[in-house]
Amino acid sequence: TGRCVVAVDGPSGSGKSTVSRRLASGIDARYLDTGAMYRAITWAVLRSGVDPADAESVAKVAGEVELRIGTDPQGYGVTVDGTAVDKDIRGPEVTGAVSAVSAVPAVRALLVQRQREMIANAGRIVVEGRDIGSVVAPDADLKVYLTASESARAKRRSTEDAADVAATAADLARRDRLDSTRTADPLRQADDAVVLDTTELGIDEVVARLRDLLTERG
Ligand code: C5P
Repeated sequence: TGRCVVAVDGPSGSGKSTVSRRLASGIDARYLDTGAMYRAITWAVLRSGVDPADAESVAKVAGEVELRIGTDPQGYGVTVDGTAVDKDIRGPEVTGAVSAVSAVPAVRALLVQRQREMIANAGRIVVEGRDIGSVVAPDADLKVYLTASESARAKRRSTEDAADVAATAADLARRDRLDSTRTADPLRQADDAVVLDTTELGIDEVVARLRDLLTERG
């Protein structure tokens, strides 16, 4: 079990989190949810009363807070200045503001640096996000880009949130648009990423496919 970095990117609802965690557990690796880091900074921004559209103030908050995140695929904790935020970062307030906060270049610079340090320390790790294969870990051993049809993604997310499918679809479309069109590190498929459409694939099939790819690459 030597060094191994797997980058998993894709839009929300593509199955990234479930697949990444299971893969990490299966290959005895750590797991890093970079979306949770952007969500935690967003939580701090909202707590401080700063407007998520005010890039300068957002960057200031990001530079001042102490963000901690675990890397256990079976369950990790996220804290901001010592407060556990695991539940709150999944709420509608944070979800509504996270794309604005994650578009701020200073926030990205800060988190990308943290992510690279964590990857270097872990050695063996599955990292999920939007820009992992393209920016955070361009030399990853395996880069995966997961996609799924819009309706499949909305359905998955709405069962997760118990929200209504149409509203979820609209919110996903809004976030996809913001995440793919921002100037700083937009959601993008790395040139050398393996693209997997998970619309018709079960989680176990996707994980098995990725494990095969890792074995092939030694
Ligand atoms: O993956 P998740 O839905 O938790 O990500 C929340 C948001 O964080 C995304 O919509 C995106 O704006 C941002 N994000 C990002 N870069 C990453 C991971 C997440 O910009 N590597």
